[in-house]
Amino acid sequence: MALLPLKELYLACLHCTKCDLHKTKTNMVFGEGNLRAKVMFVGEGPGRDEDLQGRPFVGRAGQLLNKMLEDVGLKREEVYIANVVKCRPPNNRVPLQSEIDACLPYLRNQVAIIAPKIIVCLGATAAKAIIDKDFKITTMRGQWFERKGVKIIATYHPAAILRDPEKLQPAMEDFKKIKEELDKLV
Ligand code: URA
Repeated sequence: MALLPLKELYLACLHCTKCDLHKTKTNMVFGEGNLRAKVMFVGEGPGRDEDLQGRPFVGRAGQLLNKMLEDVGLKREEVYIANVVKCRPPNNRVPLQSEIDACLPYLRNQVAIIAPKIIVCLGATAAKAIIDKDFKITTMRGQWFERKGVKIIATYHPAAILRDPEKLQPAMEDFKKIKEELDKLV
């Protein structure tokens, strides 16, 4: 897919019929944030609240993400937040590989536009789509990877932390690491 400018990319996502998720969605969730962000966070896909509002990470997991960002001194306004798939999978099931394959070129286009220095994969789905199909979140989170000069790291998904609060501490260590790396950038 040739790279599109932001507005055209947004419209392509809005009218996309490349997989069946468009049939059951309420709103497409493009992503949002600072277009000059040095760090981009990537989740799995919209949940119920995101589908209703058309915005990423606005439900309970989003509230936790905001708090985690704040706790390391980052504001939501200074980062960019997107998802692997832009339409909600029914009942919040994990997106199918075919849905991920259909949607990933949009995320790649978004990354090319925003040109973040750091990408943070929130959870295994994003890490598998972006870093390595065999990614194991429990053993490989918190490690830096690099692609085309972009540093990439994965940590636990905030929804996974809500289900298992013991994941909060390791995730916060990852967030601190991310902030330290950001502070090193000029
Ligand atoms: N979970 C995700 O992966 N993405 C969202 O936008 C919200 C919840």
